[in-house]
Amino acid sequence: MRRLLVAGNWKMNASTDMAKALLSDILAADVQHCDVAVFPPFPYLSLAADTLADSAIQFGAQNCSTAEAGAYTGEVSVGMLQDIGCGMVLIGHSERRSLFHETDAAVLAKTERVLAAGMTAVVCVGETLDQRQSGYAELIVKQQLSALLHQLTEPQWSQVVIAYEPVWAIGTGETATPEQAQQMHAFIRSLLAGVSQKVADETRVLYGGSVKAANAAELFAQADIDGGLIGGASLTAEEFLGICRS
Ligand code: PGA
Repeated sequence: MRRLLVAGNWKMNASTDMAKALLSDILAADVQHCDVAVFPPFPYLSLAADTLADSAIQFGAQNCSTAEAGAYTGEVSVGMLQDIGCGMVLIGHSERRSLFHETDAAVLAKTERVLAAGMTAVVCVGETLDQRQSGYAELIVKQQLSALLHQLTEPQWSQVVIAYEPVWAIGTGETATPEQAQQMHAFIRSLLAGVSQKVADETRVLYGGSVKAANAAELFAQADIDGGLIGGASLTAEEFLGICRS
C-alpha cells in the first residue's frame, strides 16, 4: 500500500519570518494520515532542519549539483544537503528544465548522487501544452523517464518518487482533470512495471500543477495518484494543510 505524500515546493519564495511561521504551523497541525514534506529555498534549509527535528515532516532541497565538490561556484552538493539533514531533493522540475536548460542526462546524474547518499529523489516530469495538443504527452514523459528506467536498479527505486507535473498546469490555475491525471499516472506506472511489478506497485507518483485544497481530494482519490507536489498553495499554512487533510 502506497502512503500518500503531500510535498510543498516553495520555489524562490520565503523570508526568515515567513519560513518560521509556515514551518511551525505545519508542525503544530500534526498531520498523521499522510507523509508531509517541504522544499524551502537553500537559505532556509537549516531553519527547516532545526524546526522539524524530531518530527515526521521531511524536508529537502529544490536542486543539487551533478558534481561532488570543488570549483563549481554557486552550486550546492548532495553531500552538503546530507550534512544538514535533508532527506530529499527535487530533481528536474520543469522550471529547471526550461529556464536553466537541465537535461535528462543531468536529471539522471543528480538522481544517482542523491540515491548514493541514501536520500530520496523526487523526480519531476511533464509535457508542455503544445506537446499535449500534438498528442505527444505520453511520449515526452516516457522520454524524460527513459534514462532512469534503464539505469536504476530495483532497490534504488525505493528511494525515488516521481512527480507528474504537466507544464501547462503549473502556476496557471488550470489543473489537469482527475481523469487526465489518472491516465498519465497509470501510463507512468506501466513504464515502472517494465522495471518490475514491485517497482510499479511501490513507487509513489505525485501529481503537481495548481493543486489546492478545493481540488486535492478528487485528484488524490484516483487509483494511481499518490499525493501532490504543491507550489503556490504550499505558501500558506491553511491552504497547504487543507490539501494534507484531503
Ligand atoms: P503550482 O506549482 O502548484 O503553483 O502549480 C506546482 C509545482 O511547480 O511544483
